[in-house]
Amino acid sequence: MHGPAKNSSSELRSRAWFDNADNIDMTALYLERYMNFGLSQEELQSGRPIIGIAQTGSDLSPCNRHHLELANRVREGIREAGGIAIEFPVHPIQETGKRPTAGLDRNLAYLGLVEVLYGYPLDGVVLTIGCDKTTPACLMAAATVNIPAIALSVGPMLNGWFRGERTGSGTIVWKARELLAKGEIDYAGFVKLVASSAPSTGYCNTMGTATTMNSLAEALGMQLPGSAAIPAPYRDRQEIAYRTGLRIVDMVREDLKPSDILTRDAFLNAICVNSAIGGSTNAPIHLNALARHVGVELSIDDWQTYGEDIPLLVNLQPAGEYLGEDYYHAGGVPAVVAELMGQGLIAKDAMTVNGRTIGENCLGATILDEAVIRPFHRPLKERAGFRVLRGNLFSSAIMKTSVISPEFRDRYLSNPDDPDAFEGSAVVFDGPEDYHARIDDPELRIDAHTILFMRGAGPVGYPGAAEVVNMRAPDYLIKAGITTLPCIGDGRQSGTSGSPSILNASPEAALNGGLALLKTGDRVRIDLERGTANILISDEELTARRAKLNEQGGYRYPEHQTPWQEIQRGLVGQLETGAVLESAVAYQRIAQT
Ligand code: FES
Ligand code: MG
Repeated sequence: MHGPAKNSSSELRSRAWFDNADNIDMTALYLERYMNFGLSQEELQSGRPIIGIAQTGSDLSPCNRHHLELANRVREGIREAGGIAIEFPVHPIQETGKRPTAGLDRNLAYLGLVEVLYGYPLDGVVLTIGCDKTTPACLMAAATVNIPAIALSVGPMLNGWFRGERTGSGTIVWKARELLAKGEIDYAGFVKLVASSAPSTGYCNTMGTATTMNSLAEALGMQLPGSAAIPAPYRDRQEIAYRTGLRIVDMVREDLKPSDILTRDAFLNAICVNSAIGGSTNAPIHLNALARHVGVELSIDDWQTYGEDIPLLVNLQPAGEYLGEDYYHAGGVPAVVAELMGQGLIAKDAMTVNGRTIGENCLGATILDEAVIRPFHRPLKERAGFRVLRGNLFSSAIMKTSVISPEFRDRYLSNPDDPDAFEGSAVVFDGPEDYHARIDDPELRIDAHTILFMRGAGPVGYPGAAEVVNMRAPDYLIKAGITTLPCIGDGRQSGTSGSPSILNASPEAALNGGLALLKTGDRVRIDLERGTANILISDEELTARRAKLNEQGGYRYPEHQTPWQEIQRGLVGQLETGAVLESAVAYQRIAQT
């Protein structure tokens, strides 16, 4: 059963703690403490691999809470394969519960996990992933330390239903908010509709950031094939947890590390899969961050080059109709990969955690329900990747063009002479509080030709970068039938939103990027074909505005509220390059053996 043993027990890094004849005083100290939770000296000195279970579930993190149960099956797998399991907590990140934004905590959880993986006697680790930022935080840390690591998704919730229709996490919130604005439901109806989307344990059942990042963790080769899409409460989820536990022990014996798996080919595969699944606009941020921590070249332009022309195959909300259970029954990630592989779009030789290549793993995988996962030649939409835009507003921002609705296209992109460009007049908000206070103010004269701007919402301005760029139109416009206005900003957007925003703008206003120079009333032109986004003012005027901004001491953003906010603001980079702690990137493959 066990794979080729490259790593004999005498080379296990945990032996430096528990079986070190050169330093018996320390060995005694370590042994004595770890034995007191039920392990014997014989076990700890047996040469068995010690496997960490990095636990992201807790009462504070309901999306990942089911990992508290799954960890028992992981533990059984580890034992069965001859390893010793040691479970420990990861700093919780609950996407919807953390103020000011969960984005702030990805790098904090990363830092904490790096210290644990580096500083404790672990030979390998099971990363319990799920809710949005838990996935990149865990993968980034495993990449930095570079000990054998395997990810385990907690899995999506069961499908939500309301009066015979599927209601999807997050996506239903935007819809319910519109119904409330139109007066079609009251507050109680609003709450009932929203609650219907969360019928069980697990993460968001839509193709939000969670389903995206868990699918990409599999496409990258970091979790067992077929594992990402299994709904949390299913029996199969328990079984894959067990098999994940079994497998990590062999990975230690084979010395199969994140750096063997997370190659540039693996990232390009993930970019391709991201388009085909209709993945979240948060994916480039997290994958670019992961690439930087593992030392692989990856740029925002790679997302357009390798992702833009890939069609949308997975028919999940918000871009489509279905939800997580349907995705699983239709074949999940292996079916998508096999479909792309048939077109020569996947680097088949990329290694995965089971010791086989992605090509070997997905060969023969088939689509089991073509309503949910479309065949390549009958896609839901053509060209489902991201468009990169540049201009005097920012040096890069992205747009998920696949979520442009027919209504939006008719209104903004139907000029026969210029079908991919639109112009509008800017209304600028400085942070989400400003937006909420003023959006319904008739004085702003927002109409169908307005472009809404959100600034001060980037990694520095609203520390961690808030998911606030997709802005609801004013209630009076929604009542008049105009539900979506173009939105542009330096923040992020929830993956559960179907809004065609231009987001992740870098550099952000807080770093005095072009958005900081914009004024309400400015004309702005967006050209999707050329990939440009500009304020239509002269260079002289732009220079004058910049001089004035500098005189005023630059763009103002709110004070720090916690020590971590201050620390992160001092170290964090921009969304384009992953919003990593810049000084952390220098630390690569730091595990000592
Ligand atoms: Fe946790 Fe969506 S809020 S997965
Ligand atoms: Mg989110």
